[in-house]
Amino acid sequence: MTVQRTLSILKPDATERNLTGAINAMLEEAGFRIVAQKRVHLSEKQAGAFYAVHKERPFYGELVSYMMSGPVVVQVLEREDAVAKYRDIMGATNPANAAEGTIRKRFAESIERNSVHGSDSADNAATEIKFFFSDCEIVG
Ligand code: CMP
Repeated sequence: MTVQRTLSILKPDATERNLTGAINAMLEEAGFRIVAQKRVHLSEKQAGAFYAVHKERPFYGELVSYMMSGPVVVQVLEREDAVAKYRDIMGATNPANAAEGTIRKRFAESIERNSVHGSDSADNAATEIKFFFSDCEIVG
């Protein structure tokens, strides 16, 4: 498996509780390199566009409101098999189902305030990375 990149977001519940460093430490211990990172406050338009794939879902409006409710940290993570490995360490979307040792088991408060987002496929990772970062902002 070759080195791959994935898009990560530390969500408003994580920045609110000052967990950026604690989550980054878990990522680095798990073998990820943070090759791009910035703290941003999403507009309604940005949050809506990022999650457009969920537009028809009943939780879309609340998801967009939540993601613009405070700052987020967007990151590009790099390691072998990054998409799948990040999903492993994030844990299940609903923290009630998250395995021991995962970020969501340790930090998430609910299915909405679930601390982190990660791309769900290599194709989506490429799209999501481009959404937030230009090539020159990613330094491997
Ligand atoms: P994320 O991995 O960022 O992708 C979409 C998000 O929608 C998901 O994490 C959850 O935080 C959020 N969400 C809110 N309600 C639900 C729900 N009922 N089912 C799935 N995802 C939900």
